[in-house]
Amino acid sequence: MKIKVQSKFKDYIIHIQNHLLDDLSAFLDLNRRYIIITDDGVPSVYVNKFIHQLNDYELIVFKQGESSKNIDTYQEIINQFLDLSVTKASCVLAIGGGVVGDLSGYIASTYLRGIDYIQIPTTLLSQVDSSVGGKTGINHQQYKNIIGSFYPPIKVLIDPQTLHTLSNRQFNNGIAEVIKYGLLASNELLEALENNTIIKNIDKVIYESLMIKKHYIEIDEFDTFKRYNLNLGHTIGHAYEAYYEFKKYLHGEAVGLGLLKVIKNQSLKNRIIDLLNQYQLPTEDPLDINLLYPFVLKDKKGKFNNINLIIVNDVEKTEIKIIQFDRLIEYLK
Ligand SMILES: NC(=O)c1ccc[n+]([C@@H]2O[C@H](COP(=O)([O-])OP(=O)(O)OC[C@H]3O[C@@H](n4cnc5c(N)ncnc54)[C@H](O)[C@@H]3O)[C@@H](O)[C@H]2O)c1
Repeated sequence: MKIKVQSKFKDYIIHIQNHLLDDLSAFLDLNRRYIIITDDGVPSVYVNKFIHQLNDYELIVFKQGESSKNIDTYQEIINQFLDLSVTKASCVLAIGGGVVGDLSGYIASTYLRGIDYIQIPTTLLSQVDSSVGGKTGINHQQYKNIIGSFYPPIKVLIDPQTLHTLSNRQFNNGIAEVIKYGLLASNELLEALENNTIIKNIDKVIYESLMIKKHYIEIDEFDTFKRYNLNLGHTIGHAYEAYYEFKKYLHGEAVGLGLLKVIKNQSLKNRIIDLLNQYQLPTEDPLDINLLYPFVLKDKKGKFNNINLIIVNDVEKTEIKIIQFDRLIEYLK
């Protein structure tokens, strides 16, 4: 399956194909110089497939986890780029989950004012979401993605076979983003999740999710209004993640909690609680919501004294509400 994404930078293709990594010659110029960036939690079997097929490559591995997505790792990798004399002709291969993708994309966007990079997402979350759309970035202090850029990859290579090595928790973490897409634009996606047909049809689920993402990023690549919809559940989700210093919740788990805060229809909320439970995702947190306020204030969707919150009135019926900061918490209770 192929999806073409139109971009103000350069259009790019997403390839979704089982066993795609076994024969890269159809997707990559095997003689180009590649800089592979990955983390030490990505099973080496996937990186080895590249090493065995590429003729000219360098390998950079950093420590796995959200806490590596920061300025220190950024700086270390830039230093390695200088040591390796990486030039504009080189191409970065980001092999891993969203942490590898966001960090590598940011490095590629800033090194020499921009070099090519290709996303090879290996987690469900990165396959259905983070590898596409060109948002790159790193965290700073306790704030998520507070430093970043828009810089799309030149290509995205998705091999759903890589999902076999994911833990259940990591797999379910990606399901939260699929629930988000279902709420935004596809009751069928929610039904597929409810009927447990998703594992069998994971390539189609990835395809459907990315088609929804494509719609929003093509109409508003630089996130000025319509793309905010993709942030559904994230304003509060990011605040939960940050409050707990990225230790308690995985990204998707926090997004699941955030989704429940913005669904205004009780029967739909019950349906989503059931779905989150079905995939062992959290549905409540004991925290006093007032404590999230400072983290929400830093949300990038806030302008002046207002915040743009995406509200779900029903499946496929979302609304961007402009809410005054001081009324936000009251609105979410
Ligand atoms: N840029 C965007 O548009 C966007 C969208 C959503 C999320 N994100 C970001 O994505 C990040 C989360 O991504 P994630 O959930 O993929 O987390 P992650 O990158 O931390 O990966 C999760 C863990 O799985 C390991 N792993 C990767 N592939 C594996 C495989 N095939 N088998 C076994 N283990 C594997 C990794 O080493 C890591 O330990 C967050 O930083 C979030 O902010 C970005």
